[in-house]
Amino acid sequence: MARDFIARHVAELPKSGIRKFFDIVAQRKDVVSLGVGEPDFDTPWHISRAAVTCLEDGGTHYTSNLGMPVLRQAICRYLKRRFGATFDWQGETLVTVGVAEAIDLAIRAITEPGDEIIYHEPCFVSYAPTIRMAHGVPVCAETHARDSFRLTVRALEEKVSSRTKAILLNFPCNPTGATLSAADMKAIARFTLKHDLLLLSDEVYSELVYDGKPISFAAIPELKDNLVLLNGFSKSWAMTGFRLGYACGPRGIIDTMMKIHQYGIMSAPTLSQAAGVEAMDKGDSDVARMRAEYRRRRDFLVDALNRMGLKTILPKGAFYVFADIRSTGLSSEEFCLRLLNGHAVACVPGTAFGTCGEGYVRMSYATSMKKLQLAADRLSAFVSELS
Ligand SMILES: Cc1ncc(COP(=O)(O)O)c(C=O)c1O
Repeated sequence: MARDFIARHVAELPKSGIRKFFDIVAQRKDVVSLGVGEPDFDTPWHISRAAVTCLEDGGTHYTSNLGMPVLRQAICRYLKRRFGATFDWQGETLVTVGVAEAIDLAIRAITEPGDEIIYHEPCFVSYAPTIRMAHGVPVCAETHARDSFRLTVRALEEKVSSRTKAILLNFPCNPTGATLSAADMKAIARFTLKHDLLLLSDEVYSELVYDGKPISFAAIPELKDNLVLLNGFSKSWAMTGFRLGYACGPRGIIDTMMKIHQYGIMSAPTLSQAAGVEAMDKGDSDVARMRAEYRRRRDFLVDALNRMGLKTILPKGAFYVFADIRSTGLSSEEFCLRLLNGHAVACVPGTAFGTCGEGYVRMSYATSMKKLQLAADRLSAFVSELS
């Protein structure tokens, strides 16, 4: 018999529950998809043009492993301007291939076999697998609708142990759209310091908040030695295909992340970095325009869901609605499969984001108003058929 070459800890990982679903969608043309977590907007042209200009100017070479100095400077200026956060572009800032790479690097830089990392569910699909691939132990703290899916210190206290090294969190949250208040963030910061942990804060949706000014853990000075900020360009600037992100944090950790990045990646794509400078320095009005449109769509979708009897709390951030489908009596997966097969609307079962997502369905409103209206009509027909 042929030798089994596959590493057991990787073989045991499940495939993403989102992809599984979208393999079905890809085979059908009539489907309206509320499934994909990616802006329907094209990247604002002046940002793409910066990449074209970079190419015309011969920008086809590697950059510094840490990322172009001009980009790191622009990122630090932006973080200061938007969040009042201070990071040194030399030594505290690393440019990565999307936030996905930044998450992976941060976890690999700090995890020794058996170290526990607390993360929250429902959450972005990569967290637990990434921790496992680094031989760490993912420890799940659940969030609930009764708390508007905010992560509470109570939930963290229940999960912390002598093996806990870090907390990995994401607010505004994919898939729930939940945000944290300034008081929630202060409480989590105090908890982090009390237990001497590292906070890994994935703030990729930080610009997409619909009430008040965006806030960041990086604006809490006491966290300076205990925080790695993970952020990027995919969502707020509609730049998913550029694959550009960054991490900011304590020098020793950034330097260690850089070592892994240096051996595995070398540097983020040069063209993308040039586009990133333009986005940081001149992208505020584009972000504001897209945010206003997402808000309009969110309000429409939540209202439509509530009117058809699917009680849904108004998400305060990101571009997802986490609709409560428990009144239908169907499981999340059954709901999504029947909706897809019978009414040609694609959503993602809440269980793709953790077992406590049962009873919920994620719908992305990063799609045109016309498609949202069509999806709402089809959803309404489906729900009335069930009652
Ligand atoms: C919470 C969260 N973090 C990270 C990512 C990955 O972002 P990027 O495209 O920057 O790698 C996503 C993408 O869906 C996400 O939702």
